[in-house]
Amino acid sequence: MLISDKMVAAINKQIGNEFGAFLQYVAIAAYFGNDSLPELGKHFNQQAMEERQHAMKFVNYVLDAGGLPRFRPSRLPSRGSRARRRR
Ligand SMILES: [Fe+2]
Repeated sequence: MLISDKMVAAINKQIGNEFGAFLQYVAIAAYFGNDSLPELGKHFNQQAMEERQHAMKFVNYVLDAGGLPRFRPSRLPSRGSRARRRR
């Protein structure tokens, strides 16, 4: 392996952060898309894909270095206050 275990662990943590951001943006896009604001939904979908790209760059870096990408999203999407009011 071309990088240390400590470096792999740090990058794996960042992969989780990137995927956590990805999921949050997907949730925001769904919220606006569901609220008849398709342009805002589209904007946040683009943001989501950008975060996914960041994550995949780190995944591929770890793989290229001979490491094992092991991660989970650092957070799950939170629901907005308006979404809670509808229930
Ligand atoms: Fe990012």
